[in-house]
Amino acid sequence: MNILFATSEIAPWVKTGGLGDVAGALPAALRALGIDVRVLVPAYPALLKAFPDAEEIAQPHWLGGLLPIPTLRQARAPDGTPLLLLDYPHYFDRPGNPYLGPEGRDWLDNHLRFGLLSRVAAWLGSAASTLDWQPDIVHCNDWQTGLAPAYLHYLPGAQAKSLLTLHNLAFQGLFDHASLFELGLPDEAWRIDGVEYYGYLSFLKAGLQHANAITTVSPSYAREIQTDAEGMGMAGLLRHRGDRLSGILNGIDTTAWNPAADRHLRQTYSARRMEGKAANKAALQEELGLERREDLPLLAVVSRLTEQKGLDLLLEAAPQVLKLPAQLVVLGSGEHSMEHRWTALAHKHKDRCAVRIGFDEALAHRIEAGADIFVMPSRFEPCGLNQMYSLRYGTPPVVRATGGLADTVIDATDEKHGNGFVFGPATAAALLEALQRAAEAWHDPRRWRKLQKQGMARDSSWADAAQHYVELYQRL
Ligand code: ADP
Ligand code: GLC
Repeated sequence: MNILFATSEIAPWVKTGGLGDVAGALPAALRALGIDVRVLVPAYPALLKAFPDAEEIAQPHWLGGLLPIPTLRQARAPDGTPLLLLDYPHYFDRPGNPYLGPEGRDWLDNHLRFGLLSRVAAWLGSAASTLDWQPDIVHCNDWQTGLAPAYLHYLPGAQAKSLLTLHNLAFQGLFDHASLFELGLPDEAWRIDGVEYYGYLSFLKAGLQHANAITTVSPSYAREIQTDAEGMGMAGLLRHRGDRLSGILNGIDTTAWNPAADRHLRQTYSARRMEGKAANKAALQEELGLERREDLPLLAVVSRLTEQKGLDLLLEAAPQVLKLPAQLVVLGSGEHSMEHRWTALAHKHKDRCAVRIGFDEALAHRIEAGADIFVMPSRFEPCGLNQMYSLRYGTPPVVRATGGLADTVIDATDEKHGNGFVFGPATAAALLEALQRAAEAWHDPRRWRKLQKQGMARDSSWADAAQHYVELYQRL
């Protein structure tokens, strides 16, 4: 079976969040099950630099509207996955973040940039393609490729079926009416059961409406988004398509995230040989300028700093959290007001709290290994990867019971299976109570070892998820 996996980011080259991690790991897991997966991704500078010899294989013509003629180049990722690089320098040869300009605002032509990505995904799945390889299914991800199912629906010659995976319902790709023409979509697509969404063109809605199947990245999130409270304006449509919607829990890249072989760590360790973890804690405290204390639990956050992640709750609780007593490290970037509030807190409590604003993959690894407790108070969380990294690194997570967090973390009150701490209401008080429970457990080494072991034993590899995707592809 042939699958075109269309994505706007891919780890380790271009990543702003979990979608990049998924695109960097799931295709190889699918290939291990005998699926011929090829990944379509824009040829950002980092990818052209990594694959300078990528060979030109096609020039998709007649894409419609104002869409230009790009070049498709083929390369092979180190894990063997073929990459189709969508090269159009005017759109993609831009520095930094794939979505945002230097001022932190969306690029004004994002509809054309990701419209082109979607359009080429559909082109590859249609009779117009000049490649000698045809996908049976175009597997789209989030709004950036959400228009591909609509193109397959409205334009002639479609041969492939489509699947849309929702990694985050909060980003919907909304653009004004004029973009319909610019993107080469027919007038008939401007309907409530087409691509129109409250007077805008929505890439995400277009995908939800026209994909042959929809998945999201955890079973709990699949249920939650069909409720008005958590459906972000799409609940009605998602309920309507409920028989085509399912949740498949993400895995993690267990090669990149393996404490027994992680080259970012001061000392590697495993469930059977945990001594190394203490060395990583000491090294982390030193690196961050925190007081070197073995007797205090070190709490950690690695996250985008946005409303979704609920870190305002942790800010609110922080004075009491530090008095538990505990130390706290935060690595993140995002909303400027959040960045300021965290930086100010660290200033006030220099020996107890360290904050690093930015995106730093290597530091993320050192934090997972050096911290004692990981904190994820998300308001919503489609899946979440960091709690799974934490489990694997023997750093029990404290999470809110939502989406993929609820599907992966089991509260310590379940002595046999517990691997972390779970709380319900999105309030600072509920978070603080869970952190108190965690700190208390940490002070009891035997209890803590058991909790760590149960988390480290969890199988978070992609094999299971890949198997579920294969079954779904076959049903399509
Ligand atoms: P989301 O995709 O919503 O941001 P996930 O938990 O699925 O959340 O994935 C986040 C990914 O991005 C993880 O791999 C995490 O380590 C990484 N990440 C987030 N913020 C940072 C940061 N500031 N520095 C390094 N890695 C980060
Ligand atoms: C999104 C979600 C996150 C999920 C990731 C990968 O960015 O916010 O919960 O883990 O996608 O699917």
